[in-house]
Amino acid sequence: MERYAEQTRQQFEGWEEFYSRPIDEKLDAFKQNGRIYDIIFAQQFDRSFLDRMCNLADLIRQLAKTKSGQFKLRHLLPHKRAMLYFVQPSTRTFLSFQNACHILGLSVSEIRGTSTSSEVKGESPEDTILTFASYVNMIISRHHEAGFAEKTAWVLNQTHRPVPVLNGGSGPDQHPTQALLDIYTLEREFSHLGGLDNKKIAMVGDLRRGRTVRSLSYLMKNYSGVELFFVAPEVFRMKSDIKEFLERHRIPYHETEDFESVMPLADAIYMTRIQNEYSEDPSHESETYPAFHFKQQHLSKIQAHCALLHPLPRRYEIEVSVDKDPRAAYWRQERNGMWIRAALIAYIFRVEKEILDEFS
Ligand code: NCD
Repeated sequence: MERYAEQTRQQFEGWEEFYSRPIDEKLDAFKQNGRIYDIIFAQQFDRSFLDRMCNLADLIRQLAKTKSGQFKLRHLLPHKRAMLYFVQPSTRTFLSFQNACHILGLSVSEIRGTSTSSEVKGESPEDTILTFASYVNMIISRHHEAGFAEKTAWVLNQTHRPVPVLNGGSGPDQHPTQALLDIYTLEREFSHLGGLDNKKIAMVGDLRRGRTVRSLSYLMKNYSGVELFFVAPEVFRMKSDIKEFLERHRIPYHETEDFESVMPLADAIYMTRIQNEYSEDPSHESETYPAFHFKQQHLSKIQAHCALLHPLPRRYEIEVSVDKDPRAAYWRQERNGMWIRAALIAYIFRVEKEILDEFS
């Protein structure tokens, strides 16, 4: 058996104080020249930024339809390199970021687990990240620890060679780029119905530890007339920080365990799985919570325009036979992630204008 050294972690002066501040007071720390620089929290995105990214993603996918368009895209950022540091399992977020980089011509390096990095020798995750900044122009990270991306961006921003950090999921805390692709998906699914404004959205499953629903809830403040339905088993109810945020922003929400009663009301249903990896009480994990699954028979209970979303991976939450229904939007949602992440990277490296110019 291989033996691994204990990870060493030292104190960063000022970090604990910074971390404890309300998010609104921290947003400027992740900007440069008045623009978003690091992507850490969903709260960084306002309506005009969201609309801008959705539009840019549409243009990129339009260009990518032809070989000559793909060539143009690939010549936008061939001089940039990205690091994918994914030390928590990932399929979609990893692949969609990697392919978004490829679309724009960036070269990509990757670490997909601490067992193959010098963290085995006891190097701290912070030193590991500082090392990437010696080689690349952007770091995309996924980590099991809440606040990890925030800390690395904060540490890097105090060095002589900061590079943008993109949070690809930080423990049970936030997943801002997933929220971005969820918004893009909802806007597209409702493009013939006036977009996401004035819609009723149900979020179902493990709302307590699901970072996707947490980040998406924050973004709802950018849309008018939205109403939320949180459908979760008692033990996995949405945490109070999100509920307080919604109250502050006067976004109505309802909590229930009765999924079937919400089905006919919802314009979109966002399904999630139980997040067993963050288990605190094993007795909550032995169950599959079938009352919070979407089955074939439920298709007759939802509205004709209702969009069914899921960040994936799926376990039992949605029966595979539902996939054939045109309202099942999760495979489209998955692909949307690649385009909107390409849009985000184009924004970060300021090649947005080159893309817009192709359409002028
Ligand atoms: C989600 C995640 O990792 O938080 N997956 C994803 O990024 N598409 C959802 C999940 O794992 O349940």
